[in-house]
Amino acid sequence: MKLLVTGGLGFIGSNFCRYMLAEHSDYELINVDKMGIGANPANLRDIENDKRYTFIKGDICNPQLMNRLIHQVDAVVNIAAETHVDRSIADPNLFLQNNTLGTFTILEAIRRHNHKARLIQVSTDEVYGEALEGSFAENATLKPSNPYSASKAAADMFVLSYHKTFGLNASITRCTNNFGPYQLPEKLIPKTIIRALRDLPIPIYGKGINVRDWIYVEDHCAALRIVLEKGKAGEIYNVSAGNEIANIEIVKKILGQLGKPESLITFVEDRPGHDTRYSLDAAKIRAELGWQPKYEFEECLESTVKWYLKNEHWWLPFATEVILHPTPWKLGGFH
Ligand SMILES: NC(=O)c1ccc[n+]([C@@H]2O[C@H](COP(=O)([O-])OP(=O)(O)OC[C@H]3O[C@@H](n4cnc5c(N)ncnc54)[C@H](O)[C@@H]3O)[C@@H](O)[C@H]2O)c1
Repeated sequence: MKLLVTGGLGFIGSNFCRYMLAEHSDYELINVDKMGIGANPANLRDIENDKRYTFIKGDICNPQLMNRLIHQVDAVVNIAAETHVDRSIADPNLFLQNNTLGTFTILEAIRRHNHKARLIQVSTDEVYGEALEGSFAENATLKPSNPYSASKAAADMFVLSYHKTFGLNASITRCTNNFGPYQLPEKLIPKTIIRALRDLPIPIYGKGINVRDWIYVEDHCAALRIVLEKGKAGEIYNVSAGNEIANIEIVKKILGQLGKPESLITFVEDRPGHDTRYSLDAAKIRAELGWQPKYEFEECLESTVKWYLKNEHWWLPFATEVILHPTPWKLGGFH
C-alpha cells in the first residue's frame, strides 16, 4: 500500500513514518512537508535512505502538487498543520490557510483525481473545547476555543461533508495531547525539560490547574494505523489513553526526575481562551477497532525526559525561543 503522509517531518508525522516502516514492510511512504515551524529533517535521518520512503518538500495548500501526488497513492494520512495554540492567537490567518484550506485542497485533489483513495484526517480533542465535566464522545458538539482548534474543527466539517456529498472514503481521528521523542521545544514537556536543565524559571499559565489528557506518541501512531486499515468511512474516532493530569503535576514530575527544585515554577498570566480541561471518551475505537494504548504514562514520561537529556544536539537549534521567550502569545507573533 502506498501512503501520502503530510507533515511527516513534524513531531507526530515523523514518529508515524518511522512506525509504519518499522511495523509494515509492505508500506511505501511519500512524505510531503513544507518544512515549516514544526519540521526537522533530522527527525527522519534514520529512514531517509530507505527505498520505501520518499520526501518531497511541498505545501498541502498547493493544488497542482496535491493533484499530482494523489494519483500515486492508495491513501492519505493528513498530519500537516500549524499546531501551536499560542501562535494561532498571534497569527490566526496562518491556521485558517494551512489547517482548513490545506485540508480542503487535499479533499479536492481526491475528489477530482483519485476518488477511491482513503483519507485519514488527523484532528484533535481541542475541537470539542473544554470539558467542564464528563468526557466527550464523538457526537459531542464542537466548541473550539481558539483559532487553532477552530481551524481544525472547520477542516473536520469539510471532511465529513466530502464523505456525505461526494462519497469520499474518509475517517477522522481526534487524539489527546501527545508526548515523546522529537516534540518541538515550545510544547509543555520539552519546554519544561529544557528550561529546567538550564535552571531557568518554568512558566506556568494561570495556576497550573489546567488538565490535559496525555498519550505516548507511539500509541497515537498505532491508532492511526488501525483507523487507516479498519476504520469505517465517514466515522470519527476519539483516541485517548485516559491519562488526565494537571499541567503543574507534569512539571513537578519532570523537576523531580531531573533533581531540580520546584521553586523554578513561576506562574504567569493565563493566555486568552485557555481551556481548563480536555477529556475524551475513546470507547468507540477500543470496542469497534480493538485499539488500546500499550504504554504506561509514568514510564514514558521518564523515558522521554531521558531522550531529551541524550539528544541535546537535536533540540538545541530550536530552543532559542523557548529559552528566551517562554510565553509567546504576548509577543504579538513570531515574524
Ligand atoms: N501534538 C499533539 O499533542 C496533537 C494532539 C492531537 C492532534 N494533533 C494533530 O496532529 C498533527 C501533527 O501535530 P504535531 O504536534 O506533530 O505538529 P508539528 O508542528 O510538530 O508538525 C506539523 C508538521 O506539518 C508541517 N506543515 C504545516 N503546514 C503544512 C503545509 N501547509 N503543507 C505541508 N506541511 C505542513 C510542518 O512543517 C510540520 O512538519 C496536527 O494536525 C495536530 O492538529 C496533535
